[in-house]
Amino acid sequence: MLYRELGRTGFKVSEISFGAWAIGGSWGTVSDGESLAALHQAIDSGVNFLDTADVYGMGRSERLIAQLKKDRKEEIVVATKAGRKLSPHTVDGYTAENLTGFVEESLRNLQTECLDLVQLHCPPTDAYYRAEVFGALDDLVQAGKIRYYGVSVQRVEEALKAIEFPNVQSVQIIFNCFRTRPAELFFAQAQERKVGILARVPLASGMLTGKLNRNSQFAEDDHRTFNRHGERFDQGETFSGVDYDTALAAVEEIRKLVSPGVSMSQFALRWILMFDAVTCAIPGGKRPEQVAENCAASDLPALPAETMQALRSVYDTYIRKSVHTRW
Ligand SMILES: NC(=O)c1ccc[n+]([C@@H]2O[C@H](COP(=O)([O-])OP(=O)(O)OC[C@H]3O[C@@H](n4cnc5c(N)ncnc54)[C@H](OP(=O)(O)O)[C@@H]3O)[C@@H](O)[C@H]2O)c1
Repeated sequence: MLYRELGRTGFKVSEISFGAWAIGGSWGTVSDGESLAALHQAIDSGVNFLDTADVYGMGRSERLIAQLKKDRKEEIVVATKAGRKLSPHTVDGYTAENLTGFVEESLRNLQTECLDLVQLHCPPTDAYYRAEVFGALDDLVQAGKIRYYGVSVQRVEEALKAIEFPNVQSVQIIFNCFRTRPAELFFAQAQERKVGILARVPLASGMLTGKLNRNSQFAEDDHRTFNRHGERFDQGETFSGVDYDTALAAVEEIRKLVSPGVSMSQFALRWILMFDAVTCAIPGGKRPEQVAENCAASDLPALPAETMQALRSVYDTYIRKSVHTRW
């Protein structure tokens, strides 16, 4: 496993890290035993950075991580998120009082005195025009409740606006073979300001693993059933916002580019690591085998220029029209 600097925080984090949404909920039934095994596998594979949120299973994901931290002696950096408990989820809810309440609850769930990194959890775009939201986060740093803060965004424009706030240390954004626009303008600006980038949904919700087909079934409580068209939250979070059949067709083209002995998941993750501006990819994993497979992407050699070009063509042919200007 190789490690990269996370912005100006001084943390050196595994370039393949771990996304802990699925072990909390919204991805069908998961057992805490298997989720803990997946977390342990991540640490065994060299992962030292975990991304979670207060709303993943309403604290379940954070509590599993607290359990893991009790069981392991390695240093583990935990990024959590705040804001999505607001109902309705409006910018006016991002007050100092509410943010402090969310942070206090995450401190309890994670059984710690100070949170390593707190990210605003895809707030409405207007939050990036309210300096007082970031002022409230500065106060939480001053109070010793959080070490650093960052944002998780839906759109490139939100990312560009967020990094104007000098204490934003990280931006989490969807970046994968089906979502390439962040690399155009945002990556260079983030690098210039030394802001870390967490590439989320790196496998397009499992689509880029190459295991799905037209007959794949998902549980009722899996967002790949209930949010396929953006019914519950932003459509971009499910299959990266790409129409299911179009995504399957693109995956068949990508499959032809993958070298023998490499899995499609590893190939998709290695593509992300080709971008120096990215601090880490945070693939979700529900089972230890998935986690071990994904982590091995860090050991692969760089992808050749012609493969990168071929992936660009797949994107241009199948994906660009429906996603490029949307996020
Ligand atoms: N708004 C936000 O801030 C936000 C939104 C989304 C995600 N995130 C973060 O980003 C992380 C990653 O995104 P994601 O979990 O949505 O999507 P993802 O990483 O693209 O896909 C994860 C899913 O793919 C399947 N999978 C993973 N590795 C596999 C392998 N090697 N072989 C076969 N299947 C595999 C698993 O589901 P199955 O086994 O069920 O197929 C897994 O749950 C999240 O966990 C979360 O931490 C944040």
